[in-house]
Amino acid sequence: MKHRQVGLSKVGLINPDGHAIGLDIGATSVRAAILAPGTLEGRPSVTVHGLGKMELPPGAVVNGIVSDQAALTAALKHLWQVHKFECRNVILGIASQQVLVRDMQMPKLTPQQRAKALPFQAREIVALPMDQVILDFTPLGEPDPESEMQSGLLIATPRQPVIAAVQAVERAGLKVARVDLSSFAALRAIADEHLSVEAVVDLGAHMTTIVVHNQGIPKLVRTVCRGGQELTEQLADRIGMSPLDAEAAKRDVGLEGSGEVSRVLDEALRPLMSEIRTSIGYFRSMNDGAVLERISLTGGGATLRGLPEALTTQLGVTTRVMDAMQHIRNRHASKHVRAELDEPWTSAVSIGLAMGAAA
Ligand SMILES: Nc1ncnc2c1ncn2[C@@H]1O[C@H](COP(=O)(O)OP(=O)(O)OP(=O)(O)O)[C@@H](O)[C@H]1O
Ligand SMILES: [Mg+2]
Repeated sequence: MKHRQVGLSKVGLINPDGHAIGLDIGATSVRAAILAPGTLEGRPSVTVHGLGKMELPPGAVVNGIVSDQAALTAALKHLWQVHKFECRNVILGIASQQVLVRDMQMPKLTPQQRAKALPFQAREIVALPMDQVILDFTPLGEPDPESEMQSGLLIATPRQPVIAAVQAVERAGLKVARVDLSSFAALRAIADEHLSVEAVVDLGAHMTTIVVHNQGIPKLVRTVCRGGQELTEQLADRIGMSPLDAEAAKRDVGLEGSGEVSRVLDEALRPLMSEIRTSIGYFRSMNDGAVLERISLTGGGATLRGLPEALTTQLGVTTRVMDAMQHIRNRHASKHVRAELDEPWTSAVSIGLAMGAAA
């Protein structure tokens, strides 16, 4: 699965020791995955060499946007110190409801010509002024031989939030080699190429990203500002609990109890369920009623008890919580890395970002 990324600087994607580092900045924590991309029997293959996470104070990152740069810088410095990570070139994940991903056709051009043409092509589609966005185009398949037009995805990311994140990361002594969409990273780590149509849903604290792929090609990308935190908040409000007790009750009981906690959670989850249902319905309507074979869940919110079963029942699609290390060659051997990972499903984005260095 190949996606071109929004490049910012000329720093090497692969560090001098052969490792690529994916960096996922979330509302609750920042996570790093250190992988070595390589080949095995002629096929791309990756091994994992380190994983780590550092919690962020509430409010430092809100809906994917860095609000407190100093807090993020401090957390990153701490993360590198604790884990004694030696490499400093990172691939940074970007997630925001403002990122626009659209199908687009472009004339067949070299990458350099395409970069020059992109603002003119994108002007029709992107509402923001061109100097306020970072544009990228991911070609999908080969150009049409008759029209010489190339199909692909236009990706337009508001520039300012990216700059704020890059500054905070670089103040921690790191270098941003590339920025990439977190949703594409989750897809890379999770997608099962044996399935023709699969939805990869990353359920975080503030945000949920939904990507539907057809044989590895992203067909629908959507980010909604809903996640696990609003479930906790509603539980605290409606039952009159402290936020800490509400968080604990949410994790303990989830949707599986017969009491008030599960009833409130079930109701609080409805808008997010509806977003997922609408996204899948939209995908089906745009793809001749294509049959979705599986919903693959990642992110902390994915482990809400009873959630896979509720999605399976309500959407009629088999739903599973996925292991972010499933495409990693040494996943069983690297027990020391697994020990770092109390919740392996929460590392899909950082792992997928680092995997992108091989693409
Ligand atoms: N066992 C569990 N049951 C229910 N929810 C859980 C459980 N474990 C974690 N969560 C929820 O997962 C969310 C955190 O997920 P994650 O770590 O993926 O978010 P993040 O990447 O920091 O945030 P975001 O992607 O939204 O910026 C929190 O809302 C937390 O309450
Ligand atoms: Mg996240």
